[in-house]
Amino acid sequence: MRKILFINGPNLNLLGKREPAHYGKKTLKEIEDMVKAEGIELGIEVIAFQSNHEGEVVDFIQDNYIIADGIIINPGAFTHYSYAIYDVLKFTSLPIVEVHLSNIFAREDFRTHSVISPIAKGVISGLGYKGYLYALNYLSELLNL
Ligand code: DQA
Repeated sequence: MRKILFINGPNLNLLGKREPAHYGKKTLKEIEDMVKAEGIELGIEVIAFQSNHEGEVVDFIQDNYIIADGIIINPGAFTHYSYAIYDVLKFTSLPIVEVHLSNIFAREDFRTHSVISPIAKGVISGLGYKGYLYALNYLSELLNL
C-alpha cells in the first residue's frame, strides 16, 4: 500500500479556534480524518503528524521518508524561513505538495515568500482544507502513472 506523510506545522493544532476567517472552522483532527478517509478510497495510507517544533518536523521526516511515497506538508510559519525543513524535504527526493489553507499571496508581505516551494512539485494555497484532498488526489495520480 502506498503511504503519504501528511505533516502540519506550528499552530495548526489550533485549527477550529484560530482565525477561522483564514483557516476555516474544522479542527485538525476532523481534517486528518477526512484526508485519511480519502486515502482509503484511493488505496493510500495517510500518516498524519503535527508539531509546533521545527526539529520534531525534521526528525519525523528523517524517521519516515524511507517508508513513504510522497509528502503533503503545510509548514505553517516555517514555510517562510525554515531551511532545515527545506533541506530534509530535499534530501528525501519524494514528491512534495505544499499546502496552505489561506491564500498566502493575499496576506502580509512576509507570508508571500516560501522557502519550501522550490523543492515542491506544486503549491496549493487558499482553498481551505480541500487543498489537502486535492494534494492527495494529485499524488495518487502521480504515483499510479
Ligand atoms: C499557513 C499560512 C502561514 O503563513 C501561517 O503561518 C500558518 C498557516 C496556511 O495554512 O495558510 O500557520 O501555512
